[in-house]
Amino acid sequence: MTIITCIEDLRRLAQRRVPRMFYDYADSGSWTESTYRANHSDFQAIKLRQRVAVNLENRTLAGSMVGQPVAMPVALAPTGLTGMQHADGEILAARAAEKFGVPFTLSTMSICSIEDIAAHTTAPFWFQLYVMKDRDYINRLIDRAKAARCGALVLTLDLQVLGQRHKDLRNGLSAPPRLTIPNLLNMASKPRWCLGMLGTRRRGFGNIVGHTSSVTDMSSLSAWTSQQFDLSLSWKDVEWIKQRWGGKLILKGIMDAEDARLAVESGADALVVSNHGGRQLDGAQSSIGALPAIVEAVGKHIEVHMDGGIRSGQDVIKALALGAKGVYIGRPFLYGLGAMGEQGVTKCLDIIRNELDLTMAFCGLRDIADVDQKILLPGTY
Ligand code: FNR
Repeated sequence: MTIITCIEDLRRLAQRRVPRMFYDYADSGSWTESTYRANHSDFQAIKLRQRVAVNLENRTLAGSMVGQPVAMPVALAPTGLTGMQHADGEILAARAAEKFGVPFTLSTMSICSIEDIAAHTTAPFWFQLYVMKDRDYINRLIDRAKAARCGALVLTLDLQVLGQRHKDLRNGLSAPPRLTIPNLLNMASKPRWCLGMLGTRRRGFGNIVGHTSSVTDMSSLSAWTSQQFDLSLSWKDVEWIKQRWGGKLILKGIMDAEDARLAVESGADALVVSNHGGRQLDGAQSSIGALPAIVEAVGKHIEVHMDGGIRSGQDVIKALALGAKGVYIGRPFLYGLGAMGEQGVTKCLDIIRNELDLTMAFCGLRDIADVDQKILLPGTY
């Protein structure tokens, strides 16, 4: 039996169990992957202060994100094609998050649809929206998210154009996947994955299928999607979406203090300091590197969240210490899902919770709400 002690163990197991083209899709960044690597390595440069002989009884990690209670301030990030890491992946991840008491965010580009998730969960999940040229489509997605009683709309702003990922091009990752002989042989060597896929009907983009008559199969779906990202996106659109949605709005993909100020003006409830997990602008600063300036610029006016490079509870506490009210994890839960389905996502959350709890104790604190810059060693952040 494989013993899982940390997120890296889940990553290795997922690499063994998920076909290469889908594993690589999750585990890569754009171009040279320098931002992808910096997202994690910049966490390691930040040092924590160890304290001793303080009362560590009755510790708590509970808090809130955009006013919603969370068992710990860690949400599952929106990730496209999650249902290709494991059959029905979005449903399994949403269920694990619900049982754990943390938010699950469904991507526009998911395999399972908004209605699939609503049918398999009871707690409100969050829905991530990309701004598409087809405003009728946006209107319908917003209405569907409202009907599913989603707790927040996460509007992603950093994908008007698409960063190039070399591995996806080499692996022929497209919709439909290019079924070359090496790809087929590789899939055949992952029997669990194949059996799961044979047992589900969910293999297309669940939120798009049936929307437009120009989309009849996976090829036309792919063509329609790729020309839908709106190059003319502006803050006026953000304001329009906020009004149209009417609920909690989280703006994702903010890396610049000037944009953070505009996000505040747009009336959003929170922003996410994020470079899309190093999948968009290669050469951008790491998210944890960008966080302090954004907190300083707008932290008093809006909830600041962050994602990118979190691989442990130690990373979570560092982000909180630098002013994040909550964080998101992307790849860590995808590794869990690819490795062991719902159980793997639960394992991922368990690992992070235990690391976060013990690290908070080592820093001499009992309540996550008390975490601030004082737990960090000056000169290391
Ligand atoms: C993403 N991300 C993403 N973001 C988004 O707003 N909509 C999406 O559909 C996707 N799709 C997606 C797919 C995959 C495979 C990954 C890895 C990431 C970005 C994601 O929400 C988040 O910003 C990063 O994953 C955070 O970095 P870590 O935790 O993966 O290092």
